Amino acid sequence: MISVPTVRKDFPIFTNQPDLVYLDSAATSLKPQCVIDAVTAFYTTHTSNVHRGDYAIAAENDALYDGTRKTVASFINCDPREVIFTHNATASLNQAAHGLKPLLKEGDVILTTKAEHASNLLPWFSLQKEIGVKVEYAELDSQGRLTEENFLKALHEGVKVVALAGVTNVTGAVQPIRAVTKAAHAAGAYVVCDGAQSVPHMPVDVRDLGVDFLAFSAHKMCGPGGTGVLYGRRELLERMDPVFFGGDMNARFSSDGTIILKEPPVRFEAGTPAIEGVIGMRAAIEYLQKIGMENIHAYEKELRAYFLAQMKKLDNIQIYNPDNEYGPVAFNAKGVFSQDAAGYLASRNIAVRSGNHCAKILHEVIGTDSTIRASLYFYNTKEEIDRCVAACSEISLENAIGIFF
Ligand SMILES: Cc1ncc(COP(=O)(O)O)c(C=O)c1O
Repeated sequence: MISVPTVRKDFPIFTNQPDLVYLDSAATSLKPQCVIDAVTAFYTTHTSNVHRGDYAIAAENDALYDGTRKTVASFINCDPREVIFTHNATASLNQAAHGLKPLLKEGDVILTTKAEHASNLLPWFSLQKEIGVKVEYAELDSQGRLTEENFLKALHEGVKVVALAGVTNVTGAVQPIRAVTKAAHAAGAYVVCDGAQSVPHMPVDVRDLGVDFLAFSAHKMCGPGGTGVLYGRRELLERMDPVFFGGDMNARFSSDGTIILKEPPVRFEAGTPAIEGVIGMRAAIEYLQKIGMENIHAYEKELRAYFLAQMKKLDNIQIYNPDNEYGPVAFNAKGVFSQDAAGYLASRNIAVRSGNHCAKILHEVIGTDSTIRASLYFYNTKEEIDRCVAACSEISLENAIGIFF
């Protein structure tokens, strides 16, 4: 069980912005004091680079930075050597796609869906252009959900990679990753799971899911910006190319251009990393683990059900994912442009996002390319939901236009 009033005391923004209703955690989450303290301590008491200094605070940072691999590994159940630190989920997905190049050839199929975020489509589109792989889409229902049956219909022997979000970022469809992975592996395909919207909100166990790659960002799970993770199955990491070359990731190189790379994961971490981000991510994961991912999952599900039930009562609101149990609520005020409606909510100090949310081909599935997305996290309350629902009930063409500030 989560004690939301207690949890909220951990987040200084609630003291500094007492009237704010923050329903944009799918974009980025709020930060608890322990994360702010971890980042601040790096700047105020133990600043240094990592893997480069022969002095005490550098050794301290090496231990903190590399030790965080163990924290991540315990969080998603993998080996610490399978944890690559990146700059965000986008960088992780690009590394997975481009790293797989040596294992792909012209004509190989990347199977994905039209509900994916740009970060899990564009890297594959770029491989389509570069090496001639072919991107195909499994059919979704009108709320962005992939059924096992539709996945199996789309799977064929040409499929070499399945690229799929664990939870989609607009309609919050929880995709059947375990079943997809089992079938994909049987067909000889690798599975790249975009965990940007699943890892922050539910227990995710890569061994249980069986995925080959899992990408996520720290900033959506109480951590700092500029830090992400790519989990990769060890035997695959050993066969993959890095995207970036430079300091730290090479063992040696010579004037004839020969490069001897270090072992994974360091092979994939060229240049100075976001050290304070990684240290802050460790604090964030420990914080989430203390609350319990099962508790977070259960509370969010209950709060979302409450939110949805209230929203369904409003005649002026159209909901695009009324049957989904999880993730954001995607809606529009009938006849009102989503950005104008979001502006009206902002005038009531309610923070939501409007537009296509980087899922720019999802309109082919849900029939609109612009929605309001209200996304929750474990620190949101029923009172906040009530305020949002009351404000939504007031949105009309007349009052939404011109509110922008
Ligand atoms: C499903 C999904 N994938 C990938 C991303 C990209 O995350 P980031 O911007 O942190 O790289 C997002 C961000 O909103 C997302 O929701």
